[in-house]
Amino acid sequence: MTLEQWTDVDRFFSDRLIATDPALDGALRASEAAGLPNIQVSPSQGRLLGILARAVSARRILEIGTLGGYSAIWLSRALPPGGRLISLELSPEHARVARSNLENAGVSDRVEVRIGPALESLARLATEALAPFDLTFIDADRPNLAEYFDWAVRLSHRGSLIVVDNVVRNGAVADPRSQDPSVLGVRRLVERVAQDNRVEATAYPSVGVKGYDGILVATLVRDP
Ligand SMILES: C[S@@+](CC[C@H](N)C(=O)[O-])C[C@H]1O[C@@H](n2cnc3c(N)ncnc32)[C@H](O)[C@@H]1O
Repeated sequence: MTLEQWTDVDRFFSDRLIATDPALDGALRASEAAGLPNIQVSPSQGRLLGILARAVSARRILEIGTLGGYSAIWLSRALPPGGRLISLELSPEHARVARSNLENAGVSDRVEVRIGPALESLARLATEALAPFDLTFIDADRPNLAEYFDWAVRLSHRGSLIVVDNVVRNGAVADPRSQDPSVLGVRRLVERVAQDNRVEATAYPSVGVKGYDGILVATLVRDP
């Protein structure tokens, strides 16, 4: 099958199940106009993130990798009144665009974008009283995935969800010849997760508008 067919199937569902949304569409347009890369989650994936957040009645959400705030809009909309999303972003320019998109989407009261290398932001976050988070979405640089996962577990509680995007990488994750740093990052993550008896995890390969990729979903089966 081809990317064109995967895209048709993805659009078949998203066209029917996800209403046109001016705030989300506007965020994509503004991000493109600002020159941000087109690497945000798809509408179907954004909806899935929102459903997962609602399923665990998430009041506190952590995101690693903001880009233009597209997934942050989806996640923040699943929060109840008083809920909070902290999103970590390396690039000041991405954060600027995200803050503007979040403002236009009417969710900036519950979303905070923090600028800096995520590993530093996570260490700072651990000293504050914001954790534990009910859901963490990891969607930043792949070489650091294992460290991000460790932090996510540390900042979670029993029953929290951790979702990691882009773990299949067009199948390269299972190709022993691939030495791509992102692929190596995913493999290291999977080894780390497999050894952690505080979590149960699975990975879900998928095809769609974003090609052949997938997510890893973990839940904490005991307190960290
Ligand atoms: C795939 S994009 C995030 C997409 C976003 N979650 C969405 O779906 O709308 C990855 C983002 O992670 C950021 N990033 C890369 N390395 C980072 C780091 N070390 N710390 C924090 N953010 C980082 C990039 O600048 C980029 O904006």
